[in-house]
Amino acid sequence: MVKQPSIKSYFDPDVSQAEVAFAFSKGLYYAGHSLMVTEQYHYQVLPHQHNRYVLFNQGSEYDLLSNVCLHRQASLLNGQGTTRNIVCKLHCWGYDHQGNLKGAPHFTNKPDGQLEKVSLTPWHGLLFKGRAPNMDLAELGLADYLNFADYRFAGMDSLTYECNWKTFAEVYLENYHVFSMHPGLRQYVKPTALNWQFGDDYSVQKVAMSDNLLKATTPLYREYQDHLLARFNGQLPQYGAIWCYLYPNIMIEWYPDVLIISTIYPDGPRRCTNHVEVYYPESLYHQNPEYFAAEKRAYMETAEEDEVACKLLEQGREALHRNGEEQHGPIEPFLEAGVAEFYRFLA
Ligand code: FES
Ligand SMILES: [Fe+2]
Repeated sequence: MVKQPSIKSYFDPDVSQAEVAFAFSKGLYYAGHSLMVTEQYHYQVLPHQHNRYVLFNQGSEYDLLSNVCLHRQASLLNGQGTTRNIVCKLHCWGYDHQGNLKGAPHFTNKPDGQLEKVSLTPWHGLLFKGRAPNMDLAELGLADYLNFADYRFAGMDSLTYECNWKTFAEVYLENYHVFSMHPGLRQYVKPTALNWQFGDDYSVQKVAMSDNLLKATTPLYREYQDHLLARFNGQLPQYGAIWCYLYPNIMIEWYPDVLIISTIYPDGPRRCTNHVEVYYPESLYHQNPEYFAAEKRAYMETAEEDEVACKLLEQGREALHRNGEEQHGPIEPFLEAGVAEFYRFLA
């Protein structure tokens, strides 16, 4: 029997902080994707840690550079762009693209300095601080799916949820609620035609696509499925979705013609933010932007339903917490297998 996290860990700042420190030091750190910075000197400020770091393409490698000036700690870069030099707007301290301090106007003795810089480890286009995932895509049958060739980075959204970060992960890692909470998604996939794969770093859920996309469904899924039927013209993909979770907080998702990478970051025990990056195949996107817009609307419908699921869990557990109670129920071994694995990682 797997040990479930205490009710307290969802609400108590100290318990939560200790748990987050443990999980995030033990797990992987996804920094960004090489498609965000396709040219040398191209940079992208990353929202993941409140714009603390910039992803920088150095030509032969990718770095994370501190985005905070060494002088009086002003913020340096915004958004994305291309530059060989970083100049602080406040008093014009200048750095080269490696983060070396080059100039400090009016200082007679120029101080020495170097912005914190971390080289990143590439893994199938994704960039990790520290080690890459121990996950063999070919062996898992994912090589053709988690394949970013000809894809482009289409943008990023940050969505905040009023719940503990584990709650978000738990909803992501079980298919039990698909029947009840997702009227659109449950028709688009075959929720029981589910295949799990687990490793120390990951869990993978492959869900078959429904064999009848003409069945009645929600208006947004109807629209999306009509696009899919036209796009694949009778030759529909085997899977409707592939959801990979890399511990502690990284999700890589495949849908037909769409790849999504999202990372969930705790902000105290009761709030978390999901940074969602979207990748589309370049030429197909230009031919048929409406197909991708329809996919996104269906995706968002499902995301909003998941938020309701998170809220329900949060409310019930808060009632227990406020009454000083500890309570846990059984985990359904197949449909909720990912939750048990996640708890194992946390323990
Ligand atoms: S804070 Fe950056 S130069 Fe002063
Ligand atoms: Fe869901």
